[in-house]
Amino acid sequence: MEEAVRAINYLLEQKIGVSQNSLRKQDWLRVIHDRMVLCGASNFGTYYDKIVSSPNEFQELVEAVVVPETWFFRDMESYSFLIEYIQKEWILNNKARPISILSMPCSSGEEPYSIAISLLESGLPPSDFQIAGVDISKKSLAKAMLGIYGQNSFRNKELDSKFKALYFDKGASGFDVRKIVRKSVFFQYGNAVDDNFLIARPVFDVIFCCNLFIYLNRKAQKKLIEVLNRLLANDGYLIVAPVEREMMRQAGFIFGKNHKKCACQKNTIRKDYKKDKSDDLLNALKMESDREKIKKSTALDALEEAGHLADSGDFDHATNLCLKCLKEYGMSAKAFFLLGLIKHAQGHEDAAEDFFQKTIYLEPFHHEALIYLKLLAEKRGDLKQAELFARRAHRLESSDF
Ligand SMILES: C[S@@+](CC[C@H](N)C(=O)[O-])C[C@H]1O[C@@H](n2cnc3c(N)ncnc32)[C@H](O)[C@@H]1O
Repeated sequence: MEEAVRAINYLLEQKIGVSQNSLRKQDWLRVIHDRMVLCGASNFGTYYDKIVSSPNEFQELVEAVVVPETWFFRDMESYSFLIEYIQKEWILNNKARPISILSMPCSSGEEPYSIAISLLESGLPPSDFQIAGVDISKKSLAKAMLGIYGQNSFRNKELDSKFKALYFDKGASGFDVRKIVRKSVFFQYGNAVDDNFLIARPVFDVIFCCNLFIYLNRKAQKKLIEVLNRLLANDGYLIVAPVEREMMRQAGFIFGKNHKKCACQKNTIRKDYKKDKSDDLLNALKMESDREKIKKSTALDALEEAGHLADSGDFDHATNLCLKCLKEYGMSAKAFFLLGLIKHAQGHEDAAEDFFQKTIYLEPFHHEALIYLKLLAEKRGDLKQAELFARRAHRLESSDF
């Protein structure tokens, strides 16, 4: 790859965190090439000079590389969680102030408006909530502020017809968000991976941060986690897309048993909780945590043993040990992956694929499972699927730590 293109990629990754793997390689290059031509630069080198000297052109390039894909009520589980939270916790705790919610990235506004509609549905009047929609794309923000949407923004057939009638006016250019929904939604430009991102803002009670983490390089993901920890209230909830949940868990956020799977909290909650309780409870918690540790190490030992058995060709015993582990100690990516390897070695490719799928369900970026899934998809002739797995695996290989 040309040195100047490398420099452009580096600049984008450093400044906005978006990884070049968020698009197909040829699309990424085409996007940069198109911007280069549009601004009259004769080659990538002069285009690089242009973006470092012109904030406007840099912003144009950002607009071209980000993925603005979004729609109303994209992940319904998140919105039902929000309604339940308002009705069962927020209203009862009576904080005597409006609930403050961040939608970041908000793209063209479908997400923050869906949040507003959910809050209205949960019984809150607009004066009882404030929603900040933040995004790095000025074009998307302009669309969000306009608040007029075409059919592409409505992909949830059942819900859309109900909500369209209640919260939108049909106009010549599309569906216009009604004032009652717009009233408490505010939009703002912001770069989520900038050190000063929303630095002066008080914390939020709920943050929706969906479908951003997956597009970022590792360094930017780390930064985003810091930002989310800083901006989320200690008793607040963070809502992420299904594909990002496991990553949030690994980053230290806690998904409580009683909450819907989409919402997590900062782990300071657990510390505060411990501090407030009696010694008995503290001891009980410690014993529980010790039990968990023992359970975990026993499971790891058993899986190691299963691995040795599989290496020596004793597939039946290895399989039994893995299944026993899953039964006794719960779901484990390691156990599923090993079962996948065993099935693969035995030539049972469908079963192997099934176990590798289970592995990446628990660990979305399990590199080896992704590679096996890519190979198996290729073998089935599903090249599109194979490419998706390859891109996901490649995103890992090229991340910078
Ligand atoms: C796929 S959309 C997600 C929108 C919405 N949250 C959803 O789940 O439907 C991704 C958005 O992230 C924005 N984005 C990318 N990098 C960003 C950054 N560093 N700071 C803020 N927004 C960013 C893009 O402009 C784009 O609008």
